[in-house]
Amino acid sequence: MGVGAVLVTRRRIARRVAALAERIAESFGDEEMTIVAVLTGVLVFLADLLRRLPTRIRVEVVSLSSYPGAAVQSRGPSFRLWPVGDLVGRHVLVLDDILDTGQTLACLLDRVRSLGAASVRTCVLLRKNCPRVERVEPDWVGFDVPDAFVVGYGLDHDGLYRNLPDIRVLEAQDDAGGAP
Ligand code: IMP
Ligand code: MG
Repeated sequence: MGVGAVLVTRRRIARRVAALAERIAESFGDEEMTIVAVLTGVLVFLADLLRRLPTRIRVEVVSLSSYPGAAVQSRGPSFRLWPVGDLVGRHVLVLDDILDTGQTLACLLDRVRSLGAASVRTCVLLRKNCPRVERVEPDWVGFDVPDAFVVGYGLDHDGLYRNLPDIRVLEAQDDAGGAP
């Protein structure tokens, strides 16, 4: 596997993140926001979005894994870490990198609601054009992308490529080098 063509450039990402931040800020108004962010892929998106949101914000992180190791097919979400923060009466924004099968978002929405949040809204950076296992529609989407495995801007394959500034397609390649 190696990295292929750029799918979304860093400039487009920056512009879109700024627009998303405006929409989200508008929606929350004066309400205090609690972001529940899904590690690890969301790391760069979270950092960029966070600094553009003007409202009062708390951040909680959860860790879930759907693609253990070198997998490129979802194995379904499994929690590795859940925040201890109290969500009772809070206005929550669930933030994830990619909507793929929908299982991660559905699982999180259930969990956040059951913990007594006053409201739950959702934002994903990428929405893949593929059949969903769970019917879930985010309130805000950065980009609609084809059903390919993508890396960069926080997204990994087998732990690598999170540091690439653009979002790129992962490609099978003949040589074993795997260098981007
Ligand atoms: P799902 O919607 O539960 O199937 O899973 C979505 C999660 O799988 C995302 O939060 C990502 O962390 C991960 N994921 C899905 N597609 C990709 C991809 O193309 N590259 C990297 N991670 C992916
Ligand atoms: Mg994820």
